[in-house]
Amino acid sequence: MLGSVQSTLWSLVLLVCVAQALPWELEYRLTAVKERLADLFKPYPGPSEVSLPPEFDSRPELFKLHRDIVSVESESFKEQKGSAFLRKYLQSKGLTVEYIDVRGGRQNVYAYLGNAKNTSVLLTSHIDTVPPFFKYSARKEDDGIKIYGRGTADAKGSIASQIVAFEELLQEGTIGEGDVSLLYVVGEEAGGEGMIAANTSFVESNVNWDAVIFGEPTTNALAVGHKGIYTFRIHVYGKASHSAYPELGVDANKVLIEILHSFEHAEWPGSKMLGDTTINIGLFDAHNAANVVSPYAAASVLIRVASTTKEVSKLVSDIVDKYKEQALRVEIDTIHAVEPTYLDYDVPGFNSSFLSCYTDVPSLGERGFKRYLYGPGSIHDAHGATEYVSLQSLTQAVDDYKKLILHALGKVEEDKE
Ligand SMILES: *[C@@H]1O[C@H](CO)[C@@H](O)[C@H](O)[C@H]1NC(C)=O
Ligand SMILES: *[C@@H]1O[C@H](CO)[C@@H](O)[C@H](O)[C@H]1NC(C)=O
Ligand SMILES: *[C@@H]1O[C@H](CO)[C@@H](O)[C@H](O)[C@H]1NC(C)=O
Repeated sequence: MLGSVQSTLWSLVLLVCVAQALPWELEYRLTAVKERLADLFKPYPGPSEVSLPPEFDSRPELFKLHRDIVSVESESFKEQKGSAFLRKYLQSKGLTVEYIDVRGGRQNVYAYLGNAKNTSVLLTSHIDTVPPFFKYSARKEDDGIKIYGRGTADAKGSIASQIVAFEELLQEGTIGEGDVSLLYVVGEEAGGEGMIAANTSFVESNVNWDAVIFGEPTTNALAVGHKGIYTFRIHVYGKASHSAYPELGVDANKVLIEILHSFEHAEWPGSKMLGDTTINIGLFDAHNAANVVSPYAAASVLIRVASTTKEVSKLVSDIVDKYKEQALRVEIDTIHAVEPTYLDYDVPGFNSSFLSCYTDVPSLGERGFKRYLYGPGSIHDAHGATEYVSLQSLTQAVDDYKKLILHALGKVEEDKE
């Protein structure tokens, strides 16, 4: 399966998914993308490093932790140093830290106070980053101080601000054993293996929470949800002939072009909450000589589903049905179908937004807990060669995570004041 799927994946990855990885992409993505899109991944030339501005004194622990964790390289599949760093850091703060093993000698990190593995709230994000690594630096720009480096936003900004929010609440005496735990997973950018392994481990050991706060760059807004996925390969079978006598053949390329044209011009059902359903045709496979009528053509298509995969796949087959007669055979292989994810977002004092890309949220099986998705930085900058998080966004995230934790614990901040 994997072999035949690989060429498909390759193209999907190429054109669609600079934004987010999916389970079926696996390692393939890393090498393919690196080789083929070398330009895109040219490291940022690097802003001139400045000594940290005085604004960094406001929360020294936050900026130091963020800098240190960004400085540890932890590309997907090579997260070991990131896991070890977090384990050591969290242990030094007196937490109980466990590793959850993931395929390939990698580890998720789960931390809590004392013996209370079950907590009311779970804070979680991912340790891995997309390649290539480029180092941490900070500089003052017209619109404020920006911190550049791989993972500064996606998602080490979330990790650092979650941990500091936890520490501050602990120091303030607002939380204690049994209230909050922390989970940092590997592999989010490459199929979600880390979260899938964490899910299995927690279900088996009967660990559960009332609320889970996922950290991904959402520009400091609470995400209302994110789109699902419907991805498939379409195969068209025709009959070869000399191109001088096209009437003797059945041109698979022609039928595929008609179908793809209809896909591009279809009205895909969207939703009020998640916006438009969008389509990307990532791969054409019709390599025949120009003087041969093609006997076979295929394409790989990825649809970001804002409505339901049922509605979307129905429209796909309705379109295909219209052209079926023109070929010997048309087949659709579904590669992956995941419904949109809807989140909890009804917390006072927050803006809301939606994400178009995929996250780890659906990989942590629903077991009755509320799900929030929030983080500093923007997904639009996250995978590019100028990934950054602003100082303002990072500090606001600490305040906001504290608010979210207290909201989830039912301890509204006003009560405290
Ligand atoms: C966690 O809570 C669940 C449900 O209340 C309970 O069944 C389970 O034993 C607890 N797990 C641990 C590790 O304490
Ligand atoms: C909500 O978004 C607006 C516009 O971007 C911004 O000015 C405001 O500060 C945001 N509010 C919160 C609570 O983040
Ligand atoms: C979570 O793990 C349980 C137990 O292995 C499994 O039944 C469930 O399907 C998993 N959920 C997801 C979303 O993978």
